[in-house]
Amino acid sequence: MCGIVGYIGHRNAWPIIIKGLKRLEYRGYDSAGVALIDNKNLNIYKKAGKVQVLEDYAADQNLNGNIGMGHTRWATHGAPSDRNSHPHTSNNKRFSIIHNGIIENYATLKEELIRRGHTFESDTDTEVLIHLIEEIYKNESVELFEAVRLALKEVNGAYAIVIMDSEQPDQLIAARKGSPMVIGVGEGEYFIASDATPIIEYTNNVIYLNDNEVAQVKTDSLIIKRLDNVIQTPYIQELELQLEMLEKGGYDHFMLKEIYEQPRSIRDCMRGRIYPSEGKVQLGGIKEYAEKLKNIDRIIIVACGTSWHAGLVGEYLIEEYARIPVEVEYASEFRYRNPIITEKDVVIAISQSGETADTMAALEMAKEKGATLFGVCNVVGASIPRITDAGVYTHAGPEIGVASTKAFTAQVTVLTLMAFYMAQQKGTISKSKMVELLTELDQIPSKIEKVLESDNLIKEISEKFFNARNFLFLGRGSGFPVALEGALKLKEISYIHAEGYPAAEMKHGPIALIDEEMPVVFIATKNSSYEKVISNIQEVKARKGVVIAIVTAGDTEVRKMADYCIEIPDANEAFLPLLATIPLQLLSYHIALLRGCNVDQPRNLAKSVTVE
Ligand code: F6R
Repeated sequence: MCGIVGYIGHRNAWPIIIKGLKRLEYRGYDSAGVALIDNKNLNIYKKAGKVQVLEDYAADQNLNGNIGMGHTRWATHGAPSDRNSHPHTSNNKRFSIIHNGIIENYATLKEELIRRGHTFESDTDTEVLIHLIEEIYKNESVELFEAVRLALKEVNGAYAIVIMDSEQPDQLIAARKGSPMVIGVGEGEYFIASDATPIIEYTNNVIYLNDNEVAQVKTDSLIIKRLDNVIQTPYIQELELQLEMLEKGGYDHFMLKEIYEQPRSIRDCMRGRIYPSEGKVQLGGIKEYAEKLKNIDRIIIVACGTSWHAGLVGEYLIEEYARIPVEVEYASEFRYRNPIITEKDVVIAISQSGETADTMAALEMAKEKGATLFGVCNVVGASIPRITDAGVYTHAGPEIGVASTKAFTAQVTVLTLMAFYMAQQKGTISKSKMVELLTELDQIPSKIEKVLESDNLIKEISEKFFNARNFLFLGRGSGFPVALEGALKLKEISYIHAEGYPAAEMKHGPIALIDEEMPVVFIATKNSSYEKVISNIQEVKARKGVVIAIVTAGDTEVRKMADYCIEIPDANEAFLPLLATIPLQLLSYHIALLRGCNVDQPRNLAKSVTVE
């Protein structure tokens, strides 16, 4: 949560920072602020609301300065307001800071600083940190770079911070622990940001700052130190990102663009990894563990939200094909239990952002207990891929819409490949079966293109139901995680209450909700539980419920009972989630749009949840 941008160089900092903040708005959008230094004068502009509100507010102010920094906020400490927006300043107003993360021991530090005469203007933990830095700077008579390093040694929590000194406008100080930070290296200029999206149009050369590192950034030099004062050699990497990936490309919303990108993103995800005619899967990222996979006792999948739903699909596939027991855990629950984990367990973390705090913490705990850690992440170089032993990137490209769409189907694709890879290593699948499955998997992107042709029909169905107050989503087998995902998508972007349930569980409670007002979405495709789902549809119809069914093309049985049917091409049950999820994404999108909701930036949410 929270996006940060910093700039030092020969250009005017304001436009770079504002544009960068707009790119990072997916990380939080309840307030925004910018600090610029012009001739040793610190000018700070900050407003509750979106970056656009700030831009309008500051339009006629002094926006000069070749050094500056900006922040877009997702509130943790202190309500969203002008006062609590970043940047914050020190007591003497000389130093300023932006911060993504959380300072856990801020209350104790604040008490001590108040005793020493500091006064605070906001309710934030961040303001405490810049006052602490000021105090150390004064008392220890050290340079700012050193004062920041010493202050961070007293801090518990997570942070990506940038600090400026109006008396020395030739440097930015940056540091990170647990929150992401990238430094872009230009010609006589540097860029700092939470991810590479604000940097890409200026330079392809970046340095990912590591945890517990602090950097002094000047136009002509960059020094990186660890918190224990050991100098680090910066490792410059080339970005693979392209600018077009960050734009809407003619679509009205990023969410819609990302839904339509899925045939491509799934192809990208499979490229170089499947060999249908040979019946072979290659996963370079975990190949070192090929032998180990033959003898593991158990797989534990940890994730949150949509990624957790992908984990449920993974459980189904790994158990079906590789015959390895799988447990799927909410990372937030798992980390606070005392779970039994051994060295023979593999823990797989699934995370689009690769930054989710609970998933990170679950991994750290599993690491201490000796498990092997795998990551399934989308953002290259994020924290989770760095702490795992091995992993498989999803390669879905940047996902900007806050509600996850293409990242989910890419996660499911990777888990499908992992299941087949493990089955291949263990010999639990025959060559001929593998040829058959991979040949079909290879056709899934084209089948998704077919599903997308139902967009108009789905829009018409949405027009009938956009005023509904509740929705139920039901499925069985691998259709159950699809139902959960359909319900989550609808509630997060349209604010309609929705529940996902295993279809058979309906009669143990939710059936009481059904009446003529209640739309019930069934995943009713032709697979092993088809007949059973038909019985569940009859139970709903008997109580006058309205049924919207996702069915296999050509289906006639369900059509006789359901009020509305959306067809998807026939496919092996293993690939059902990849196809059946698409109409549900479109249904949520159209309903949210008809309700006038902000589909790309739903209220209260953030794309990257770096607080627990
Ligand atoms: C829902 C959604 C969230 C995320 C969750 C985990 O559309 O996007 O539920 O799936 O916050 O995020 P990652 O995958 O980044 O760990």
